[in-house]
Amino acid sequence: MTRTFAQQITTIERFILDQQRHFPDASGDLTGILYDLALAGKIIASRTTRAGLAEILGSTGEENVQGEVVQKLDLFADQTIFRLNDHTGRLAIMASEEHGDPLVIPDRYPAGKYVMLFDPLDGSSNIDYNVSIGTIFAIYRRLSPDGERGTLQDCLQPGRKMVAAGYIIYGSSTMTVYSSGQGVHGFTLDPSVGEFLLSHPNITIPAQPKYYSVNQGYQPGWSTGVKKYTEWLQGISGQNKGLSLRYIGSLVADVHRNLMTGGVFYYPAEITPEGKHAGKLRLAYEAAPLAFIAEQAGGYASDGVRSILDIQPDSLHQRAPFYIGNKELVQKAEEMIRQYDG
Ligand code: F6P
Repeated sequence: MTRTFAQQITTIERFILDQQRHFPDASGDLTGILYDLALAGKIIASRTTRAGLAEILGSTGEENVQGEVVQKLDLFADQTIFRLNDHTGRLAIMASEEHGDPLVIPDRYPAGKYVMLFDPLDGSSNIDYNVSIGTIFAIYRRLSPDGERGTLQDCLQPGRKMVAAGYIIYGSSTMTVYSSGQGVHGFTLDPSVGEFLLSHPNITIPAQPKYYSVNQGYQPGWSTGVKKYTEWLQGISGQNKGLSLRYIGSLVADVHRNLMTGGVFYYPAEITPEGKHAGKLRLAYEAAPLAFIAEQAGGYASDGVRSILDIQPDSLHQRAPFYIGNKELVQKAEEMIRQYDG
């Protein structure tokens, strides 16, 4: 049967609205936040594709030909997301990787019922080299009383309480991938019409994994459990065939690839001369939202001991060891860490 044009094309707006209809009591606020994030994604994508031109187009390195101040892209992304969301009355408070403290909604605007944490442009050390980068976001309901400004406590909730999460990847194409608890769905930006179109409905992580992803350069600092686990993934133990290694060094891109192909990404804690440290990745706005997506796609994420989603954050920028991907692979990491590291 040939499908009509309208049947083939689902814009992100239409899809999010259709999902909202499953909840007759929904106010539309979450829908609005997701729209605004998709819009932010388009704006950021249009800048990232011109990243190498900033210095050429800028007369002094500070202003470009349109007279705009040339900003670092991560700060541009940060301000874009904040400004698109500060005045809508949907959010009580925000928090960003770029700011030590939470971002309070200005007094002149109403405070809403949701809380949003985001990493505006992750992997930004890769920007200069044309490597994929991404935005990550997590959305919660506020804990503090309605009507007031949100608080730090609103931002420090365990991932299990998340109502929606997602990422935008700026790669060979721009994609938004999100979940509001009803599966994971991916939309690819069609630059010719400026719309995100549904390209990957109901993403589930393939049962047969292909890749393991880790910065193997740090191996000397790993615990015995992590070293043994890596050997197990490589098939050196003889118990499995061994996976191929892929590591971009851009969290969103590494996790996205493994979500599509099956596999595991990990950024373990290293043992430093000063003792153990907690890894590099941030719990609240990197690990937790990606963990939410992974679980919705049939996968799992852990800090090597327990589900990332069960960790109660103590502070906004706290770090956690991070293992994410096929459930069996992440559980194997937990098992081997338990066995060798105690
Ligand atoms: O969070 C920052 C980040 O750039 C991630 O996107 C990426 O996964 C990680 O750091 C790479 O770190 P490293 O260079 O230590 O492998």
